[in-house]
Amino acid sequence: MPEEFLIAQDLQKSFNHINAVDGVSFSIHKGEIFGLLGPNGAGKTTTIRMLSTVLPPDNGDVVVAGHSVRNQGDLIRRLIGVCPQELALYPEFSATDNLVFFGRMVGLSGREARSQAQAILERVGLTDRAQGRVEKFSGGMKRRINLGISLMGHPELLFLDEPTVGIDPQSRNNIYETILGLKGEGKTILYTTHYMEEADRLCDRVAIMDHGRIVAMDRPLELKRKLGPPDKVTLEDVFLNMTGRSLRD
Ligand SMILES: Nc1ncnc2c1ncn2[C@@H]1O[C@H](COP(=O)(O)OP(=O)(O)OP(=O)(O)O)[C@@H](O)[C@H]1O
Ligand SMILES: [Mg+2]
Repeated sequence: MPEEFLIAQDLQKSFNHINAVDGVSFSIHKGEIFGLLGPNGAGKTTTIRMLSTVLPPDNGDVVVAGHSVRNQGDLIRRLIGVCPQELALYPEFSATDNLVFFGRMVGLSGREARSQAQAILERVGLTDRAQGRVEKFSGGMKRRINLGISLMGHPELLFLDEPTVGIDPQSRNNIYETILGLKGEGKTILYTTHYMEEADRLCDRVAIMDHGRIVAMDRPLELKRKLGPPDKVTLEDVFLNMTGRSLRD
């Protein structure tokens, strides 16, 4: 049996009268890339905010490495890194200073933060722009720094909320390679994206959410197999089949 690094049990969160997350349960195995997929407004980011101790659930629990978000959030925060869907950068700081700042926030010494920042800049292909102000960066460079920040402190579990949204194939490929490299180092990753082909290639298992609930969960190949010959069916076909074609928001 694979070791379960994160267990989410019956998570619920409503805002006014909207059930943003409506009874979500799943677990993520140590070392796997777990995809959380779903249309706009499905509840992916709200789920991630509860998993990462940012938002208390109305109901249910999250257990990470044996620690509950209900009363051991501080222990969980030492294990996780979060790449938020909305860029969280200081535009007037350099790339290095953004990384060092967030490294200090997670408790690294100045020396350690600078050393990790340098290694991360190399990993995300920004060594040449280490001293450049982030406000001058392209969209892809900003996304790469946003991802880099989540790696400061070498967290065991990463929550990557649409890290490749709106960027060119070169930046997307760099992020893709970075995520695969992290998996190779044994990190556990929760990943959201609207690019189904990317999820199919990258994720060991995916959960498809809609209207705050999980409507399908399995290995991409198995999900495709349930719909037809897996060489003919795409994960996008599965996605549309499970979530319908009506527009959301
Ligand atoms: N702070 C909030 N206050 C009020 N409503 C919220 C809040 N956060 C999320 N919602 C609502 O909860 C629902 C789920 O939103 P969420 O951001 O989790 O979806 P998502 O799956 O991440 O969507 P997207 O793919 O667009 O990022 C939506 O209806 C959204 O409007
Ligand atoms: Mg979202």
